[in-house]
Amino acid sequence: MPFWHAPARNPPGIHRYCLLLLFAICLDGILVPDAVKVRDTAIIPCNETCNGDVFWEFTTKNEKLDVLQCVQRTCTEGVNFKNRVNLSEKAGGLSLKLSPVLYNDEGWYNAMCDSTFLCRFHLEVFVPTNVNATIGRNVTLPCYARTEKQIADDAVNILWKKDDQIVLQVKKGITKYGSSFTDRASVSLHLYKDGDLSLTIFWVTTSDKGLYRCYHSAEEEHGHPGAVTLNVTALQKFYAKKFGDSLTLDLFGSDPVMVSFTGSTETLVCSVSGNNAVCSPEYANRVSVINNSLTLIGLTSSDSGMFTVKEKTGEVISINTVTVEGVTQRHHYIALSLLTAFALSCICLFFWCTCHRKSQAPEARYNYNAAESTADKEPSREPACIGLSQQETSPNISEDSVIYIPTPIEETMPMMTTEKQDSTVWSKGVEYL
Ligand SMILES: *[C@@H]1O[C@H](CO)[C@@H](O)[C@H](O)[C@H]1NC(C)=O
Ligand SMILES: *[C@@H]1O[C@H](CO)[C@@H](O)[C@H](O)[C@H]1NC(C)=O
Ligand SMILES: *[C@@H]1O[C@H](CO)[C@@H](O)[C@H](O)[C@H]1NC(C)=O
Ligand SMILES: *[C@@H]1O[C@H](CO)[C@@H](O)[C@H](O)[C@H]1NC(C)=O
Ligand SMILES: *[C@@H]1O[C@H](CO)[C@@H](O)[C@H](O)[C@H]1NC(C)=O
Ligand SMILES: *[C@@H]1O[C@H](CO)[C@@H](O)[C@H](O)[C@H]1NC(C)=O
Repeated sequence: MPFWHAPARNPPGIHRYCLLLLFAICLDGILVPDAVKVRDTAIIPCNETCNGDVFWEFTTKNEKLDVLQCVQRTCTEGVNFKNRVNLSEKAGGLSLKLSPVLYNDEGWYNAMCDSTFLCRFHLEVFVPTNVNATIGRNVTLPCYARTEKQIADDAVNILWKKDDQIVLQVKKGITKYGSSFTDRASVSLHLYKDGDLSLTIFWVTTSDKGLYRCYHSAEEEHGHPGAVTLNVTALQKFYAKKFGDSLTLDLFGSDPVMVSFTGSTETLVCSVSGNNAVCSPEYANRVSVINNSLTLIGLTSSDSGMFTVKEKTGEVISINTVTVEGVTQRHHYIALSLLTAFALSCICLFFWCTCHRKSQAPEARYNYNAAESTADKEPSREPACIGLSQQETSPNISEDSVIYIPTPIEETMPMMTTEKQDSTVWSKGVEYL
């Protein structure tokens, strides 16, 4: 008997999606997954009201069990759901909260008000496989199924979902993509015929993390493993650079992002939105953003450290460890010699100024002092300065009297000498007399 005739779930998939869509709209803001990981919490939605008794039952192809019965607001759990189930007012109306979920909780949940049918929901329970992926790289999520080896291409049905969104769907030979996976995801029709439904995602981004499920056949049976938890980790890169080199960091389509630098402390380099980068002053002249990558030019030893690219949410995209070689001494040497040269020129300029100013007067003054000190051993500056003006008047004095050096002491001398001359003449005259 072909698998699509097997008594799979009822009602068929289409009906389930209609319900899902309805609930997704009704349960505004509350995530209602139709698939949960084993041991997680499941919310089975039913935003309805009931004035009578509420009854939730669980059905699989082989079983029909009581989940919860509420008579006049007093609820009793079914024996297989003891201490695991309750009505969730937060999810609205008569929604059912189931925690922790067991692997065999998968099946249909029906809600009744008295004997009136209210809600119906299919819960899937997975034991997902974990897959780690690195941002910017490709990743393959495994899924296998017992497919027909000779199936016609246009009879192939493959469905990959992430949480409640379609990633990729192959139906009647046509492939459709979910909005964020256009041209980024693929399955192989050739491998499908070997029972391999694995999904490859190219150029992984942080938003790709989540629970992925794979289905096949018109009945949307799930493959094995039925679900994959994709974990996305930051890209770690190491760069050995030389003085003056430039560094280009891929932003991997994330927008906006923050780029920070960790040397001794963490500082913001730039905040990037589209092709616009708002950078710290020390980086502003060195950064350009083109084609979703950031380039920092003119690396020096002070750029040795860690450049981290983060999303606004704090999600780390890449950790770039940079070493800039053979520059520490040269760099400092240049700075030091520039500083020395500057200091030297300052000193020279100072001396030149001083010398230039002195060259007009002080030379004469120094000479004068020298002459003076030899004359009377009194090298005070004041007489020297006065002496300058006296020197100008001295010709007048020397015209009056004889050839005397005009010092303050000798100023009285002409008078004395005239007296002396007189007395000599007189004494001479007396002598002679
Ligand atoms: C439940 O339905 C009512 C009325 O349709 C609506 O106002 C309310 O927001 C819904 N509650 C939730 C949690 O969706
Ligand atoms: C169910 O809800 C009631 C009232 O909100 C609470 O007292 C009770 O502990 C809950 N039971 C479980 C199993 O969560
Ligand atoms: C994924 O990464 C985590 C932590 O880095 C590690 O513990 C785990 O084993 C990895 N899983 C796989 C499947 O490689
Ligand atoms: C990812 O896959 C594409 C398409 O096959 C290939 O061009 C690219 O080099 C792959 N990238 C990596 C990082 O392997
Ligand atoms: C995902 O990666 C993070 C960081 O490496 C790690 O801490 C976490 O354990 C991983 N989760 C799984 C399920 O591998
Ligand atoms: C940006 O990327 C596009 C397509 O990859 C390429 O054609 C273009 O030359 C790039 N521009 C620069 C400035 O690198």
